[in-house]
Amino acid sequence: MSHCREDGRHEPETELERALALRFGGYASFITPNDPIRTDFHGDSPAREFDRLLDRYLSSQTRVLDLGCGVGFSLCRVARRAASVTGIDLQIELLEAARERVSRSGLTNVELVAGDTCDAATVAALPEGFDLAFSRRGPFLTSALAEKLSADALFIVELVQDFLGLKEVFGRTPFLPASSGDPDGAITAQAGVGFVPVSSKSYWYEEYFADSDHLARNLKQGAPLQNWWMDACPYDDERDRAALELYARYNATPLGIRLVGHRRIYVFRRQATQFYPVIGEPGRPSVGDLSLKGREK
Ligand SMILES: C[S@@+](CC[C@H](N)C(=O)[O-])C[C@H]1O[C@@H](n2cnc3c(N)ncnc32)[C@H](O)[C@@H]1O
Repeated sequence: MSHCREDGRHEPETELERALALRFGGYASFITPNDPIRTDFHGDSPAREFDRLLDRYLSSQTRVLDLGCGVGFSLCRVARRAASVTGIDLQIELLEAARERVSRSGLTNVELVAGDTCDAATVAALPEGFDLAFSRRGPFLTSALAEKLSADALFIVELVQDFLGLKEVFGRTPFLPASSGDPDGAITAQAGVGFVPVSSKSYWYEEYFADSDHLARNLKQGAPLQNWWMDACPYDDERDRAALELYARYNATPLGIRLVGHRRIYVFRRQATQFYPVIGEPGRPSVGDLSLKGREK
């Protein structure tokens, strides 16, 4: 059984996982030598909170949907306590490792689906009636996915947001008048598919790297260096080394080169959003009535 660290990363166990760990590292929740030499959560780890929330909402009756299940660490953990779990991911190799992990764990209540959560045919083929959906640093709910959830379903999502100051130094901040990432854009996006927040919790934590080579190896393995809606622009030594050395110089501490990360966890519940709260209440006119009155005047 793999050990889960406070940062949510796990030891690779098989040959396939060791190969995937070298390629995907922390992105796929693997421990690698490129990880920080030290991470400080100051007693409040987002990974632990995510597990706590999953446990809080799970029962032996719960039908679960894992969006972007990766190699299936959370999926297998959840499947031991749920009625069933369906995991979906577009990375075939990660899904293959999830398949191995499911079979090694002896779980018989798991279905794995290869595909994109934005693809209509893939989503249409999913079963109906999930009580709980979650996305651990994976995709959001779409309206097609929302239709696959039960009337009182919950959705738990963890987002990895910026490392403070990093995008600016690397010239990766969107060059727009309002360029900073809107952390609550998630609320607007999910309200649009009929889910409103129960809670939203932010975390700022510190990671320390031994030297600039160590930090460069970590960035190459997939740190978020651009906003999710921009084309990927990964770290490139030739182009970015000078910026990295500048960052390292500004952020040198006795513990190592410091990065301050930001993650956010939301719990959403299904509720039709009343964008006009005074309209459509009992005893008040509906939108149709109002527009008719307007035309009569
Ligand atoms: C940061 S990884 C996290 C994986 C896993 N949830 C974990 O905690 O280890 C994000 C995962 O979401 C998957 N993913 C991203 N967008 C997706 C989409 N539109 N449809 C399906 N999977 C997606 C990626 O392939 C990747 O496996």
